[in-house]
Amino acid sequence: MTRRSDLLDRALEATGPLAWTRAGRTLRRRLGAAADQAPAVDLTGRRYVVTGSTRGIGLATATHLARLGGVVTVVGRDPDRTERARRLVADATGNDEITAVAADLTDPAAARRLGDLVGPGAPLSGIVHNAGAVPPRGGATPPLGAAVGAHVLTDALQHRLGSGATIVWVSSGMQYLAASQLGGPYAATKRAEVLLARAWARRLAGRGVAVHATHPGLVDTRIAAELLGRLHEPFRPLLRSPGEAAEDLVWLLTDPDAARHSGAFWHDRRPRATDRTPGGPARVDDAAEALWDDLEIYLEAGGPQENSGSVHQGK
Ligand SMILES: NC(=O)c1ccc[n+]([C@@H]2O[C@H](COP(=O)([O-])OP(=O)(O)OC[C@H]3O[C@@H](n4cnc5c(N)ncnc54)[C@H](OP(=O)(O)O)[C@@H]3O)[C@@H](O)[C@H]2O)c1
Repeated sequence: MTRRSDLLDRALEATGPLAWTRAGRTLRRRLGAAADQAPAVDLTGRRYVVTGSTRGIGLATATHLARLGGVVTVVGRDPDRTERARRLVADATGNDEITAVAADLTDPAAARRLGDLVGPGAPLSGIVHNAGAVPPRGGATPPLGAAVGAHVLTDALQHRLGSGATIVWVSSGMQYLAASQLGGPYAATKRAEVLLARAWARRLAGRGVAVHATHPGLVDTRIAAELLGRLHEPFRPLLRSPGEAAEDLVWLLTDPDAARHSGAFWHDRRPRATDRTPGGPARVDDAAEALWDDLEIYLEAGGPQENSGSVHQGK
């Protein structure tokens, strides 16, 4: 990257949500401030787990990995939707090494069983912790949503990760709002994902496993529709496509240079500030360890009330 494109990249970053739009992505590529090639690595025989892959960014990511030859397990909450996604990925790519497991990742016991089901076999090359939902207003949602299951799943699978494997947590730019009253439970979950990625990066560094959190930008999916409400329709031309988000995710999963920045928070193929509060970046590791300890206490105490452990294995 030249000095000019670096400056332009920073200027764009300072605009906040404008950089997260499709226009932001296009501009960065035109100005040479971000690599623009779709990853074209050969992933034949390499195993990946992609959570939240019944639709949106997760479905596009599972499809991209399968097209490159990856052996992919798709994960969703509902057995029918998850099996439908498995068929969609297999039909779109001609890759018949796609399996499906349904597990609700707000349920730690289900996440543990999911790990037991997908663990056996060849080492894993990557996990994409992509599952996420906007908590219903006034509804009872377990704290930190699917981030809790992602933490438990990482623990269950950590010994199956081969050297050179990558874990990606699909967080959000909304994580920057977690420190304010504006963010609500969604921002708190997205912040927790950044911190957990950081904590896992420290623990897995000696094993050659890279762990990242990323913001995919504003992407035209159900979550975007829920967050934007009546603004969704007029804003649609500004939103990135799930396929564009998947390209960047697959790049992060497979790029050897990215692996050198384990623990970072990425957007548009560059590490970004983990925290925008004064002094925040210096305290991020302490915050990550504090969250880790709290989560372990919560899990030892039995986790959420609704804890059925139910998992459904498809093909
Ligand atoms: N779209 C954006 O602009 C945007 C921006 C920043 C970050 N993100 C993040 O990107 C990720 C993917 O979201 P998306 O935009 O692609 O939305 P989406 O189309 O609504 O997809 C969400 C996926 O997560 C699954 N899921 C939700 N809760 C789950 C749970 N408890 N256990 C297992 N699976 C669960 C859903 O499965 P079901 O079939 O069961 O619903 C679905 O497959 C999320 O983590 C989101 O926070 C999105």
